[in-house]
Amino acid sequence: MPRRWLAHRTGCFDASGIRKVFDLGAKLADPINLSIGQPDFDVPVEVRQAAIEAIQSGKNGYALTQGMPVLRDKLQSLVEKRFGHADREVFVTSGSSGALVLALWVLLDPGDEVIVFDPYFVMYDALVRVVGGQPVFVDTYPDFRIDVRRVAEALSPRTKAILFDSPANPTGAVASREEVRALAELAAEREVVLISDEIYSYFCYDGPAVSPAEFNPRTLVIDGFSKTYGMPGWRVGFAHGPSEIIQQMIKFQQYSFVCAPHPFQWAGAAALDLDMGAQIAAYRRKRDRIVAGLAGCYELVAPGGAFYAFPRVPWGTGTEFVEAAIQQYKLLIIPGKVFSRRDTHFRLSYAVPDETIERGITALRQLAAHRSGV
Ligand SMILES: Cc1ncc(COP(=O)(O)O)c(C=O)c1O
Repeated sequence: MPRRWLAHRTGCFDASGIRKVFDLGAKLADPINLSIGQPDFDVPVEVRQAAIEAIQSGKNGYALTQGMPVLRDKLQSLVEKRFGHADREVFVTSGSSGALVLALWVLLDPGDEVIVFDPYFVMYDALVRVVGGQPVFVDTYPDFRIDVRRVAEALSPRTKAILFDSPANPTGAVASREEVRALAELAAEREVVLISDEIYSYFCYDGPAVSPAEFNPRTLVIDGFSKTYGMPGWRVGFAHGPSEIIQQMIKFQQYSFVCAPHPFQWAGAAALDLDMGAQIAAYRRKRDRIVAGLAGCYELVAPGGAFYAFPRVPWGTGTEFVEAAIQQYKLLIIPGKVFSRRDTHFRLSYAVPDETIERGITALRQLAAHRSGV
């Protein structure tokens, strides 16, 4: 095939880091799989029922681009009740990934800079580059806290946006109220768009998640149903923020994703009535078990949310350590360099059955003790 067929932007990122682990996982018999970024609980039965009813009653055509009133109106009133902002509009997207793509499309011109906290969710770096933007990394090692002075130093006249997620993927770090407030105020003062990805906000174990929109009414919030309700395959997310930005995102949705899946918007509306407290409490226990299980063997900043832990490798590079984990223990974890400029840590997901967590802890403790395989 002529090389010129593929656009330059196809070289913006390489998805092989995670794919390599997934491919290996598919080949191994009975692996200990701590690589998956989705809940292990199924969609609640009421939500499944709502999806079935929507399909059976013919809600299978295109949905309104901005989202069906059944869901959008409900989200709008929740957002209004929480923030009370004069100008905060909601619309429904094809997953929160869809919202992220649309946000970057409508906000970035080539050469615009975006502050990205390192370690970062893989899509942030990739999507910024795809639209010609330039990620500017603010390193948060070793404790993964947000140091707003470092953010201020990284801002330039070309900075358009700050991409922020709390609880964070891959570290599970939860920013404190003071950190969130300082970041929100800095963004307001310097007139940069603060994009707050709140997809893990329910998975917050030591207190409620704080949204920067509480302090900065022009924050663009990205959210979704994938993680909270165990429905990542149903592709329903939403975004809310200043209506001028939201209207542009809806315009771009019309010419790209078209709409979020119609029947699952009805399911999303039913999901909003549910209490996911039991599932979240189970994940808090999983978090506690991982932290206790790795204590003494790994340098680990105890994660306050999401369902990931990001320990430092006890020997070798992140890549070497993960290779040994897979070869010797069939333990699937992700090397830190997939999420970072550094290759010193690894990500594990504890969104798995308790029995898998126990197998993972045993394997990790043995791996830490024996430096073999490098
Ligand atoms: C931080 C973060 N944002 C967004 C997403 C995308 O979620 P979805 O597109 O399923 O809503 C993920 C998924 O892993 C994530 O970790």
